[in-house]
Amino acid sequence: MSNNTLTITDNRTGRQYEIPVENDTIRAMDLRQIKVADDDFGLMTYDPAFMNTASCKSTITYIDGDLGVLEYRGYPIEQLAERSSYLEVAYLLLHGELPNEQQLADWKRHITYHTFINENIKKVLDGFHYNAHPMGMFEAMVAALSTFYPEAKNIEDEACRRKQIHRLIAKVPTIAAFAYRHRVGVQYAYPDNDLSYEGNFLNMMFKTTELKYEPDPVLERALSVLFILHADHEQNCSTNAMRSIGSAHTDPYSALAGASAALYGPLHGGANEAVLRMLNEIGSIDHVPEYVKRVKAGEFRLMGFGHRVYKNYDPRARIIKQIAYEVFEVTGKDPLLDLALELERIALEDEYFVKRKLYPNVDFYSGIIYRAMRFPVDMFPVLFAIPRTSGWLAQWVELLNDADQKIARPRQIYLGHRTRDYVPMEKRGEGKDVGADPEQVAQDSRGQASA
Ligand code: ACO
Repeated sequence: MSNNTLTITDNRTGRQYEIPVENDTIRAMDLRQIKVADDDFGLMTYDPAFMNTASCKSTITYIDGDLGVLEYRGYPIEQLAERSSYLEVAYLLLHGELPNEQQLADWKRHITYHTFINENIKKVLDGFHYNAHPMGMFEAMVAALSTFYPEAKNIEDEACRRKQIHRLIAKVPTIAAFAYRHRVGVQYAYPDNDLSYEGNFLNMMFKTTELKYEPDPVLERALSVLFILHADHEQNCSTNAMRSIGSAHTDPYSALAGASAALYGPLHGGANEAVLRMLNEIGSIDHVPEYVKRVKAGEFRLMGFGHRVYKNYDPRARIIKQIAYEVFEVTGKDPLLDLALELERIALEDEYFVKRKLYPNVDFYSGIIYRAMRFPVDMFPVLFAIPRTSGWLAQWVELLNDADQKIARPRQIYLGHRTRDYVPMEKRGEGKDVGADPEQVAQDSRGQASA
């Protein structure tokens, strides 16, 4: 008998099964042979939230959550943050290797070529309220791109795929900046293709009357590092959404809009926005102990703390903390930094957080830096989505090239009623309106329902 197997005894039948173990993993489908009777469906695993299920084999991003290690294609995040640029990292994620000089120049040229968006996209934007959340606009515009590039559905065609990748990486900063400008009601600033990827984004965000926007090199570099840190993070919630939608052979714009929607949630990419709101709510250092007490009592979570995978320290948080000081040299110090540092100090000493291995994650400090750079709080999830676009696309390409993959379709354990006869209305008895909020019902009846 090979050592690389798992022997399972089914105590219901006394039968034994030998299941192959590969990469410290068993294939869930190998359990299907375990049955009590021949017409049984076979054994399944129950794993809500994928706590212990690998959904794919990947060669893109490596994380060791216990040791606080993050690597893209084998390169430690610390080295990439120090020596690389966002576009180079995007190339690395998508192609597997760092580009040589010519490859990097070509890559930058392809991306720069596609920074403009179709003028009609602006009409989509015009339909939004002045106070629409930029992430909602971002999602909608990325989805709308699929209608501008219908050929994108040819996902089997490698050249076509590559073109959509260039377009998406190039256009997401433009879409993000236009959504911001729509929000504040100022005219759009068009891409300046003489500038770097990050510098151009700052230009489209903040250019006013100057003839040529000149980004501050410290802020440009800080943005590049923040983008590198956010570029990929293996099978997180939004990447899983990208893969799941992509597995239906949906075009990459629609899949990426879905991934952005997942990122928007406060438990994921919306956390940096939530951190800022939390710090503002705490208000002053004196209130930190009371706030922590309420977190421990289970009233709410400390946003920017904890991670499904990192149970040591999020290595990205360490790099970001350093950058914060460099940015503050230019912008002046944000008073919320002291508050955040005190919150971190108290939490890291507290048994509640230590026992649960809760440490600051990437979002704990990124919001403070973005605020110092004059990005409004509701742009934070969008700032996450811009660099994560390259990671989502790398994962999407990997999915499409993986012969093991099929349309994602989990199983369920059905615990509801089985076949029963339809009950006529008059026999259904009394019941109250379970869905309605009494306040809303009263408002609707006064004719004040929102449009
Ligand atoms: N504050 C207080 N307690 C927490 C926190 C927190 N931020 N996070 C987890 N806990 C507690 C839970 O209450 C639970 O305690 P219990 O065992 O007494 O019930 C325990 O720690 C384990 O929590 P889980 O929810 O099981 O951890 P999980 O791995 O599912 O959640 C998550 C990870 C969602 C990130 C969680 O830590 C969280 O909600 N953090 C705040 C939101 C946040 O910062 N999200 C950004 C994540 S990074 C990213 O997406 C880029």
